[in-house]
Amino acid sequence: MAELQLRPDGRLRHFLSIEGLNQPLLSEVLDTAESFRKAAFQQVRKLPLLRGKTVINLFFEPSTRTRTTFELAARRLSADVVNIDVAASSTTKGETLLDTLRTLEAMHCDLFVVRHGLSGAAHFFAQHAPEGVSVLNAGDGRHSHPTQAMLDLFTIRRHRPDLDRLKVVIVGDILHSRVARSQIHALNLFGVPEIRVVAPATLLPVDVETMGVHIYNDFDAAIDGADVVIMLRLQRERMHGPLLSSKDEYFRRFGLTEKRLARARPNCLVMHPGPMNRGVEIESSIADGAQSVILEQVSNGLAIRMAVMAMALGSRDPGEGKA
Ligand code: NCD
Repeated sequence: MAELQLRPDGRLRHFLSIEGLNQPLLSEVLDTAESFRKAAFQQVRKLPLLRGKTVINLFFEPSTRTRTTFELAARRLSADVVNIDVAASSTTKGETLLDTLRTLEAMHCDLFVVRHGLSGAAHFFAQHAPEGVSVLNAGDGRHSHPTQAMLDLFTIRRHRPDLDRLKVVIVGDILHSRVARSQIHALNLFGVPEIRVVAPATLLPVDVETMGVHIYNDFDAAIDGADVVIMLRLQRERMHGPLLSSKDEYFRRFGLTEKRLARARPNCLVMHPGPMNRGVEIESSIADGAQSVILEQVSNGLAIRMAVMAMALGSRDPGEGKA
């Protein structure tokens, strides 16, 4: 995987998964995002780094924040952006992924942002991409969602730079969550000493212990002394068969309530990649409360996606090429 994601000189070409990438390169993503965050939120809204480049947003699964922030990121860097509405595209007429890719390549694009319900789809695109074309994974099946993991890490680091002292709890549908998988890899790579996962037994992957996490089935025990709690959405669209008893029962055991949050450290950050189900995964007052950084995650997604795009296309200094 590393060979596919990196150029021969070690720079980023494709961003497909956290696995296979090294910590210095991911630190560079965070640091570049920090400079873009400043640039994007100051008066200079548009930077000319990707002027003349074409970005294709290819989403085979629904998305609001990921698709929009990728699009905005490309526009802030002055790229031309095309959004392919897959529901209305030729894939619904039986075209294979490879034919879709070849057709789009014939239009001379520089970067594909791919979201697909099948694990490995972005990897497949990268394997078949011609020289000079980069692929960014915007979520593939249950496998990986690396820009989400980076924006989460970025958000945590901004509030709690002491990553090597943190207790992070990830709660909910770990089984179907590409977000959790990528987060666990990223948190481990950045030296977070204690990662706890909490889920009903039916929503835990069999291999989860091998990922360097502590497993809990009691949320009250897991949240004790936590610095960060990350809630996950129940991925009903990926559930086949009865994996859950009822929403009420789920909320009672795995929902984040005021009472539960009181067991964590006083300034424990509350996170959710969205979209969230209020009253199922999280109490509304907490989602909107002082400890919630859920909307900050969305804003930071823009900076992270700008950073990854600029690095993949070879220009990362926000000051570079300023008109
Ligand atoms: C996540 C995804 O699509 O994997 N959402 C997101 O990118 N913001 C999580 C989810 O859908 O539950």
